[in-house]
This record gives sequence, C-alpha cells and structure tokens, in this order.
Amino acid sequence: MTVTPDFRFRRLRRTRVLRQLVRQHHLRVEDLILPVFIEEGIQEPVDIPSMPGVKRFPETQLGGELRRLWKLGLKAVILFGVSQNKDDCGSDTWNDDGLMARCIRIAKAATPNMLVISDNCFCEYTSHGHCGVIGDHDVDNDRTLENLQAQVVTAARAGVDMIAPSGMMDGMIAAIREALDADGFTHIPIMSYSTKFASAFYGPFRDAVDSNFKGTRDTYQMDPANGREALAESLQDEGEGADILMVKPGLAYLDVIREIRDSSNQPLAVYHVSGEYAMIKAAAAAGVIDEKAVVMESMIAFKRAGCDLILTYYAEDIIGWLNEQN
Ligand code: PBG
Ligand code: ZN
Repeated sequence: MTVTPDFRFRRLRRTRVLRQLVRQHHLRVEDLILPVFIEEGIQEPVDIPSMPGVKRFPETQLGGELRRLWKLGLKAVILFGVSQNKDDCGSDTWNDDGLMARCIRIAKAATPNMLVISDNCFCEYTSHGHCGVIGDHDVDNDRTLENLQAQVVTAARAGVDMIAPSGMMDGMIAAIREALDADGFTHIPIMSYSTKFASAFYGPFRDAVDSNFKGTRDTYQMDPANGREALAESLQDEGEGADILMVKPGLAYLDVIREIRDSSNQPLAVYHVSGEYAMIKAAAAAGVIDEKAVVMESMIAFKRAGCDLILTYYAEDIIGWLNEQN
C-alpha cells in the first residue's frame, strides 16, 4: 500500500542554494573571540604540546601577531598572561608595569580597533595557582574581590576595552562595576564568566599556563551536575551589572546555554575550551573525523543553543573556512 506523508520536509532540502536560503542560524566573523597567551620572559613563540597549533607568544611579538590577525578579519581577542613574577596574592596584576597592563598597552598600540579583552583572574599570577588569595585553607572570596578591584582598574588604565573576570568569586561583578565606576571607567563593559564549571575539559589549558597547579577549583567553580544553580549564577551576575554572560565549557553544556538564553536579555558567550579543541585535533590527527566539518558543526550548535559570541582557539581557522564558503 502506498503511504503519502502529510508534509514533505525534504522539499526545502533539494538543492544547496535552497538549503542555504532556509538556514536558520549563521556564524559570523564578528561572533569570534580568540584567546591569546603571552608568556613573560620568553624570546620566541613556544608551542603548547597539548594544544597543537596554539602558541605562547613573547611580548615582543604580540603586536605583530595581532596585526596579522586583524588583517585576516579577526575582531576580538582575550589576553592571558603567563607570569614569571608570581606571589601568594597575584599582585603583579595590579601593577601598572606588570604583565597584564603591559600586554593591554601593546595590544591597543598595535591594533587600536581590535576589541581587546583581558581575562581578569589571579591563577596565572599566584605561586599556588589558585584564582585568588588563600586564607584558612581555601580561596578567601572577599579579600580576592578587593584585589580584583585593584586589578580591573589597572587594566582599565592600561586601555582595555572589556573586562572578563573568570575566577567565579561571589559578588565579583558588583565589586568590579563599583571599582570601575568610582575611577571614571563607567563606559567599560564586563563580560562575566558567569556560569563556569569545575571541568576536566580545562586539562590542556592547565598544561599551557598553570603547569604547577595541583589542586582543584571545586570550592569556587560549579559542579557539572547542577543545572538550577547554573542558571542562578548567570542571573546573579546579570543582576550585579554584567554586560555579557558566559557559559564555560561549551558542548557538554548546551542545555545550560539554552536556559540562560531564555531567561536573560544580555548577550551570551560560550567558551569552547582547550579540552574540546584538543579532542578535535587528536581525532583529526588520527584520521577519524573531518576537522573543519566537526568544528563548524560545533559552532552552529552554539548558535542554535542561543549563543551570540564564541571564544575559541579555532577562531583563525574558522575565518578561513567562512571565507571559503563565500
Ligand atoms: C582560570 C581559567 C581556566 C580557563 C581559563 N581561565 C580554567 C581553569 O584552570 O580553571 C580555561 C580555558 C580553557 O580550558 O581553554 N581562571
Ligand atoms: Zn583563575
């Protein structure tokens, strides 16, 4: 017996052009933010073995690298310093001549129109590797907030375009907003790492920058099992004045992205983290997946889940792949 479907979805899938016409979500160059690592004291770029294709740059080559990326069409970077001047509280971060401030000045001088974001944390500047100052065997939330206030004002004085606190301290957005406003930086937006999980997907990043960190961040980053709390964390930051929210990591947390998207009006970012990058690289190197197709499918999954912005180590490759499509 012949069966006739009521409706034929395949009508809009017949040709490539037709499929393009009815495509719901799109990835743009403007959606991409590239993380850039700068290591103090090195003279030449150093490869990061766990993240093939990603390097730590010397300060002397940061400007040239950013000019190269700007010419390719990249619009935004987030800077991670790898300090050689560590102490127990990360005081180099609020030194006007410290690594973070110097990198921001170099970046803005080289590419004034590039959106320069600073990752505002302490873990790459503390001798113990935690994201704040230790008191009573754990990171002291409120003392860390005071230091963070000093850090973000230093970053603002250096000319940063956007502040991105990643330490998951309670009250960090209110503390930062107050400090920035008090010093006249009312125009500088905050992109909060608002829902950040204590994730095993950060493994390769820790190889890249936090080599001597041995502990866990379970007392400040979130338990991956908690969905309700994931929403509450981001809404709290929105209430404190965060301009952009973020979920981190990415692919394992698409449900969290969707929930935040449906409950907030602020732009939403996702961090496609080092482990996600390394897994695709390893599978591609083993010849078992198509790297470009898997990356582009992952990116459109972020857009479909409700993200506006994507922080990814693949940003440069993606720009190339987007250009091929046109
Ligand atoms: C720490 C920080 C982490 C990342 C960026 N900043 C994670 C962590 O060590 O807890 C992860 C980035 C990545 O894995 O790509 N503030
Ligand atoms: Zn940190």
